[in-house]
Amino acid sequence: MRSQSKMLVCVGLLFASPLQAEISQTPWSDRALPPDQRARLLLAAMTLDEKLALVHTRFGTPFRGHPKPDGAMNSAGFNPGIPRLAIPPLQETDAGLGVTNPTSAAVNATALPSGLAIGATFDPDLARRGGAMIGSEARAFGFNIMLAGGADLTRDPRNGRNFEYIGEDPLLTGVMAGAMIDGIQSQGVMSTLKHFAVNDQETGRVMLDSVIGEQAARESDLLAFEIALEQGKPRAVMTGYNKINGQFASENPFLIKDVLKGDWRYDGWVMSDWGATHSTENAALAGLDQESGEDLDGSIMFDAPLKNAIQAGRVPAARLDDMVFRIARAAFASGSIDHPAHSGGAIDEARNASVSEAVARRGIVLLKNDKGRLPLPRTLRRILVIGEHADFGVLSGGGSSQVVPIGALRLPGDPPGKYYGQPKLYDPSSPLHAILREAPGAKVDFLDGHDSVAAAQAAHDADVVVLFAEQWMNEARDAPSLALPLNQDRLIAAVAAANPNTVVVLQTGGPVTMPWLSNVPAVMEAWYSGARGGDAIAAVLFGAVNPSGRLPITFPQTETELPRPAVRDPESTTANPGEPLKGEMFSVDYNVEGPDVGYKWFFRTGHPALFPFGYGLSYTRFSTGAVTVTSRHGIATATFDVTNTGARDGIDTPQVYIDSPAGLFTRRLAGWQSVALRPGEKKRVSVAVDPRLLARFDVKDHCWHVSKGRYTVSVRPDAVDTGPSTTFQVSERDLRP
Ligand code: BGC
Repeated sequence: MRSQSKMLVCVGLLFASPLQAEISQTPWSDRALPPDQRARLLLAAMTLDEKLALVHTRFGTPFRGHPKPDGAMNSAGFNPGIPRLAIPPLQETDAGLGVTNPTSAAVNATALPSGLAIGATFDPDLARRGGAMIGSEARAFGFNIMLAGGADLTRDPRNGRNFEYIGEDPLLTGVMAGAMIDGIQSQGVMSTLKHFAVNDQETGRVMLDSVIGEQAARESDLLAFEIALEQGKPRAVMTGYNKINGQFASENPFLIKDVLKGDWRYDGWVMSDWGATHSTENAALAGLDQESGEDLDGSIMFDAPLKNAIQAGRVPAARLDDMVFRIARAAFASGSIDHPAHSGGAIDEARNASVSEAVARRGIVLLKNDKGRLPLPRTLRRILVIGEHADFGVLSGGGSSQVVPIGALRLPGDPPGKYYGQPKLYDPSSPLHAILREAPGAKVDFLDGHDSVAAAQAAHDADVVVLFAEQWMNEARDAPSLALPLNQDRLIAAVAAANPNTVVVLQTGGPVTMPWLSNVPAVMEAWYSGARGGDAIAAVLFGAVNPSGRLPITFPQTETELPRPAVRDPESTTANPGEPLKGEMFSVDYNVEGPDVGYKWFFRTGHPALFPFGYGLSYTRFSTGAVTVTSRHGIATATFDVTNTGARDGIDTPQVYIDSPAGLFTRRLAGWQSVALRPGEKKRVSVAVDPRLLARFDVKDHCWHVSKGRYTVSVRPDAVDTGPSTTFQVSERDLRP
């Protein structure tokens, strides 16, 4: 059997690269062996220096006077591999929304909509498709690692990277991020899950200590990672820049050794964020397996200093073996050694753009629609479109996740969004042109909105005004406030005063405040909508698509209702690694809200949200029947009927929430189901509840503990609105693996 498979490999050699030709001569080439065994065989053949060479990566680009490393592909990370042992290079590319290359325009890839748009679909199958699409592009470019899988929670709606993440709920985040990772890895590309953990703001991200109690962390941020890990099985986990309870994430033994590798039995490898390895011994002993972006670290921690530490007995040699074993096993298991990615692979751009469009269509959230103002009739005669570059394309978020599609519009960056001097970028999918296609008989005018007086004057004469408002968000910089930047609030107010048929389309990286809300009949949250965002927006505006997105984050009324209303001046501290540190290290107290992130905080404080978590309107109507709960093998399942009582096809997302007895915990999302229904159609839905969502984490007993009592299960259109409910009895138990 074994020799047979070897023969097959040898036959394959006729067509293979020189690297594959060499691997066929090695004991670890035998594909019939489990990855563990192959990794062990490889490890046994490695010298100490070869092992050390595998546990640190550098930029795959020219960097601060150093040329691009030989064999690197101008991307975020590179390790040359071990040519003597036929181990191919690690070619790492950002990120979770498509293949990026922030420092050069060499790679033009397909952009998915933002993470929040993906979260808003509440559709793990679609997230998986999105992941598979970007994974297939990564592979076609020749990358074998995607630095994807952002799963930090929205603890602050002003966080500059919220747009890369899924939202504020641990279950939604875990399921959706896990599905994306699974999709990426289905293409034989390894994915990360990042940034582990509680890396929830950008201002001062390399200088901040996230302070949070263990129970609170286990039930919120850590739960999101735990679920994403189970669902996505990422080959690697990337630690964050921040400290957690006094120790940097990359050298935090509680996070890496105890929780990730201990309690969760994670068998992949743990890499640092770029320039986030601060020590050799502490990091190695805490469980870090690979130093990333070493060029930013001052000196390379996992090279000569690690060798010295091992030779002096301060770090056991077995720890280095474990680092290498984890990387090698992941590489074997992923297929990236047996079937290496090569650049120049075929990319079906049209097909990939249609995957992105499918996500955008599902993720757009209709926030307001008075008197059924939307969908717009195709018979409109005069439409005025207003908005920065809405004639050209749709906005995208900045930073390492920035995808640069062919034909993108790149503008000098505005001050509040500097990431290594990156420009503001619009994906070339023009909402204006898509509107023209939806309403071919209309006269469609366009204004950029810089002059609000002229915009209001023009608005007078239009049947309908579609006004695009935007908030550009960026890695390394949080929004200074929740207000739309520049004069956009004034512009909307002026235009809405001139024309009561003003529809506002938001392109934001998170929630914004809306002082003009009562003066406009319709508002749509389009997020950053990706490669074909303009088409998706127009399809929803004119009803070719019935909106079905649901908010994955709460939209607050004002900042004053947030757990930490004030923000630190970003100029007073340092966000980017490798830059001189400004001021003192500082801490952010996440025990204020503890496990009650987002909607749970709003329940606890009693502040009504502007739009709650889970909220989103449709052009049709749905009704939900009575809910019953059955329990089997300790898993409670809620069952109910959903009916489309309106006149259009539509997708509903009934959400199952749990309320605990005696205020044990604040209401939690326990599951959901997306249901596509034709008018009059009814479907039965069953949603199983993960027992952890009935439990609290018992720090003393070190396990999830379910308390006895009657719990309430409700099926709601969002976290706040009412819906059918029932109670069910739960018995006391510990949840142990
Ligand atoms: C970001 C990571 C990214 C890495 C490589 C860091 O600054 O935090 O998310 O993967 O750079 O570009």
